[in-house]
Amino acid sequence: MAFEKSILCIGAGYVGGPTMAMIARKCPQYRVTVVDTNPKRIAAWNSDTLPIYEPGLDEIVKGARGRNLFFSTRIDAAIQEADVIFVSVNTPTKTFGAGAGMAADLQYWEKTARQIREASQSPKIIVEKSTLPVKTALAMERILTATANGVRFDILSNPEFMAEGTGIKDLESPDRVLIGSRETPDGIRARGELVKIYANWVPRERIITSNIWSSELSKLVSNAFLAQRISSINAISSLCEKTEANITEVARAVGMDSRLGDKFLNASIGFGGSCFKKDILNLVYLCRQYGLDEVADYWDGVVRINDYQKERFVLNMLRAMFNTLAGKRICLFGFAFKANTGDTRESPAIYVSRRLLEERAELVITDPRALANAGVDLADTKGEIAFVEDPCEAAAGCDAIAVMTEWGIYATLDFKKIYETMRKPAFIFDGRNILDHQNLFRIGFNVFPVGKPPLTHF
Ligand code: UDX
Ligand code: UDX
Repeated sequence: MAFEKSILCIGAGYVGGPTMAMIARKCPQYRVTVVDTNPKRIAAWNSDTLPIYEPGLDEIVKGARGRNLFFSTRIDAAIQEADVIFVSVNTPTKTFGAGAGMAADLQYWEKTARQIREASQSPKIIVEKSTLPVKTALAMERILTATANGVRFDILSNPEFMAEGTGIKDLESPDRVLIGSRETPDGIRARGELVKIYANWVPRERIITSNIWSSELSKLVSNAFLAQRISSINAISSLCEKTEANITEVARAVGMDSRLGDKFLNASIGFGGSCFKKDILNLVYLCRQYGLDEVADYWDGVVRINDYQKERFVLNMLRAMFNTLAGKRICLFGFAFKANTGDTRESPAIYVSRRLLEERAELVITDPRALANAGVDLADTKGEIAFVEDPCEAAAGCDAIAVMTEWGIYATLDFKKIYETMRKPAFIFDGRNILDHQNLFRIGFNVFPVGKPPLTHF
């Protein structure tokens, strides 16, 4: 069958893979190809075990793969065939030179832009899918048009707002799709082409357009606002612990104000994930570059509170367990940065594990999906760590359980049985407030939630 259009995505990661799988599912008239420089990733996308776990993803990939969805390492050939090229290569925080620890490292982006330029023989629409500093499109334009081979490139910004764990639902029915372009006739024409692709399944009123700089900035700002809400509620959780207020009750009262809304008000051990910290640091760096130090300090506070929350959690454990963790066995319930994913990037569990090991505690880590990644994250640590799939088995013989991830199964376990197998006094530190604290207390546990008075037997 001849396809109407050829769509390519460079970067087969958490963003590129699921996004393209959804386009392929919704648009059988387009040929969708995903390429990556990492052949192992591509092999996994072509196998029965996909490289990432996302509920519902397997079914969508298996339904479209080989029909109009293809995973390949032949990057140049795929560029030549494509009409529209999404770029979702990673943009990690820079680890060297100017802006180290803050700015986005754009080397993969630039390399990809040069590769597109060299391989292209026909006009292309280039879509920024990665989260990028505002004004990146300008640099892209300059790189793509730096040689006079006469090929026309139009650059669009189309940030991805999906969250892991709910990625398929988010892609299937997004709150909005944002498409930014140059406001020239060519820019507006290119934007129209991308609107047409999304209009295959997204209601037209949810597809919004803007100038390209607003679009680039909106992604950073959306993530900054979401993270700011978590840092706000987490900051208040520490005050609750001092005052016998209860963070769940406070969040309910605050969230019922329709101007504020009730989402993203769960106090926690701190936010993780590949985006929030990276994007805020990126925003902070941009503000500093433009001389806006007060604005930079304001947003930097969101990251500082998050670091404080993680450290506070560890210090609470230490204090509760008689100021020594040396030789104590602590079971971490969950290692993923949130439920329903195997992703552990920037997971607060990494920080907590390292700190507990520094205190010479022994760790037993359990997680339904993230044990392999946990092993990689902690490969360079010294100390005793066991990885155990079954949470009840993992907790046996431990002094404490610390909930790191809000996996639904943890709330359904038989804690009476678990209690019997643990050393006494037994402790639970619920970093996600998902367990029935009164019930745990009745069983005999000493219970330390986040932002609520502890329930202790001494
Ligand atoms: C990443 C960033 O986290 C996000 O902020 C950005 O918006 C998009 O890129 P994600 O998909 O989660 O999102 O990253 P990752 O899973 O690391 O995938 C990136 C892929 O790009 C990797 O598979 C990597 O091999 C590939 N890549 C990287 C290339 O194909 N070419 C390169 O030059 C560099
Ligand atoms: C986020 C954004 O939500 C998404 O729009 C963007 O495209 C990518 O970054 P993601 O990081 O996948 O998505 O997950 P998210 O649900 O936002 O959770 C981020 C972190 O915040 C997790 O560690 C989560 O546990 C934590 N969180 C979230 C809280 O601690 N409390 C809350 O109330 C909500």
